[in-house]
Amino acid sequence: MNEVIKLLKSHTSIRKFNETKITDEQLQHIIESAMQGATAGNMMSYSIIKIRSENTLSKLAKSCDNQPFIENADLALLFVADNYKWHKYFQQRGIPETFNDYSGPCISDFMLGTEDAMIAAQNAVIAAESLGIGTCYIGDIMEDYEYHKELFSLPKYTMPVALVVMGNYDTKPKVRERFDKQFVVFDETYPSITDKFINDMFSKEESNNADFSKKFYKRKMDAPFFKEMIRSIKLYLDEWS
Ligand SMILES: Cc1cc2nc3c(=O)[nH]c(=O)nc-3n(C[C@H](O)[C@H](O)[C@H](O)COP(=O)(O)O)c2cc1C
Repeated sequence: MNEVIKLLKSHTSIRKFNETKITDEQLQHIIESAMQGATAGNMMSYSIIKIRSENTLSKLAKSCDNQPFIENADLALLFVADNYKWHKYFQQRGIPETFNDYSGPCISDFMLGTEDAMIAAQNAVIAAESLGIGTCYIGDIMEDYEYHKELFSLPKYTMPVALVVMGNYDTKPKVRERFDKQFVVFDETYPSITDKFINDMFSKEESNNADFSKKFYKRKMDAPFFKEMIRSIKLYLDEWS
């Protein structure tokens, strides 16, 4: 197994950071690795906001569903799906006048911008991990549309899709198990998902906790943060035509 594969297979999220700072050189490698990720049409329909301010990290610890460990990170990178810059470019060059059907970024631009941003984010995560730096994604950045838009001065046609907090750490948690391959990776076509398939897929979780489905649903989908995420994402989607 080569070193990259070993690194990828030993991934764990890190939520407890020590005081050692990420160096400017390390940050440069992380950013440049992120930017070299594949990007649809080489458009780089995303922006990366570097957050080192303790004040902003502390605000994010609250606004991202009260997760205090965010405040203790050395830095956070915010990956923003961004169709605004290309939109401004098209406007400046008279595209709306030349092409009557142009009415601003559309839903496929949104999807491609989101994909670009996530690819850049994951490259940053891998680069950081290769330098021994711990990372954790924070999905709750997609909540509280109004607050996060204002906090980062985000214009229309931008959406914060991934916040990655980073820092050095002393101990690495155990690698978390994933579902077995048979439930995730299929040959050639999608299989028929039978009751047995579902029973087998969740048998490990349910053997430890018979009420797994209800408890999981209550903790995630039925929680206030999830409802807030739905509300917020709908507002972002409304910006795209
Ligand atoms: C899109 C996304 C959002 C996430 N949001 C959070 C979060 O808000 N808080 C957190 O502590 N972990 C978050 N995580 C980390 C997951 O909880 C973690 O990846 C998962 O439990 C598997 O654990 P591992 O990364 O250690 O293997 C997020 C991960 C992803 C990919």
